[in-house]
Amino acid sequence: MAANQGPFPRTRFRRSRSGAALRNLTREVELSVHDLIWPVFVCAGTQERQAVTSMPGVERLSVDLMVDAARQAQGLGIPAICVFPYTDPALKTELCEEAWNPDNLTNRAIRAIKDAVPDIAVMTDIALDPYNANGHDGIVRDGIIVNDETVAALVKMALAQARSGADILGPSDMMDGRIGAMRDALEAEGHVNVTIMSYAAKFASAYYGPFRDAVGASGALKGDKKTYQIDPANRDEALRCVERDLSEGADMVMVKPGQPYLDLCRAVKDRFGAPTYAYQVSGEYAMIQAAAANGWVDGEKVMLESLTGFRRAGCDGVLTYFAPRVAEILNG
Ligand code: PBG
Repeated sequence: MAANQGPFPRTRFRRSRSGAALRNLTREVELSVHDLIWPVFVCAGTQERQAVTSMPGVERLSVDLMVDAARQAQGLGIPAICVFPYTDPALKTELCEEAWNPDNLTNRAIRAIKDAVPDIAVMTDIALDPYNANGHDGIVRDGIIVNDETVAALVKMALAQARSGADILGPSDMMDGRIGAMRDALEAEGHVNVTIMSYAAKFASAYYGPFRDAVGASGALKGDKKTYQIDPANRDEALRCVERDLSEGADMVMVKPGQPYLDLCRAVKDRFGAPTYAYQVSGEYAMIQAAAANGWVDGEKVMLESLTGFRRAGCDGVLTYFAPRVAEILNG
């Protein structure tokens, strides 16, 4: 045996890799169905499913089919489903009023799921982009995304979702001060157990492209989101955003996108110890699916390896479009 120069000269690392039993015994993290949050796109109609071209295997579902999906998720042991709306372009306005309509697609989906499948946690997205004629997450005035007026709108959106029965609110807008404003409003209305998972370390990323197709925002979007989402180069700033959101009342925090930002996942978990999640976003999903469809990688193996990577990086869970497929595999 070649001389081992490390502090444990008698160790052969291959001993613990020599068979499945030893590998199982020495594995450091494990992916479980309980780590999964399944993002699903909801559209108008009944018995309606629409393929999302840039996300092979993902469909927009009408509310009734969304309830079936929630039932399926519950059966698989997935703890939470996250609702994203595909909003009729005719309902998009400059002031985004549809965002806090109690009967908008998201709120109807929340109520329908909580009626039929009460034990699954329903998560939402809070940002104005699906409802905005400009495709931005905030209200645009004279070409500027205005912060405080947007926060007031987001609070109305949060309350409408909480009243509909949402369990986890997911502010993804990156305005300053939104977590504290939402927490105050939730407390004032008695929604003391509504959880906030802040998209705290959310970067201005090209990996969101397929999602913007899925929610119908790409056509509307003018410009980019660099004046509110974090520069991909900035780690310290992202950590300060996480600290700020926790101090304002976030219960859980998210790093997004996932795989290019695993260093942030580890840093957030080590520094704050809060429940930490990654979003394996649409572009990450699309890249794995595209390579797999070409036969260039084994899609299922890459899927499981990518998700194990989030656990190893310190994440307590992952939002992933692969959730039902992963759960099927993990359940054997
Ligand atoms: C809305 C929002 C986005 C995503 C989640 N919420 C898009 C964006 O910020 O442009 C992206 C999710 C994905 O790509 O899978 N603000």
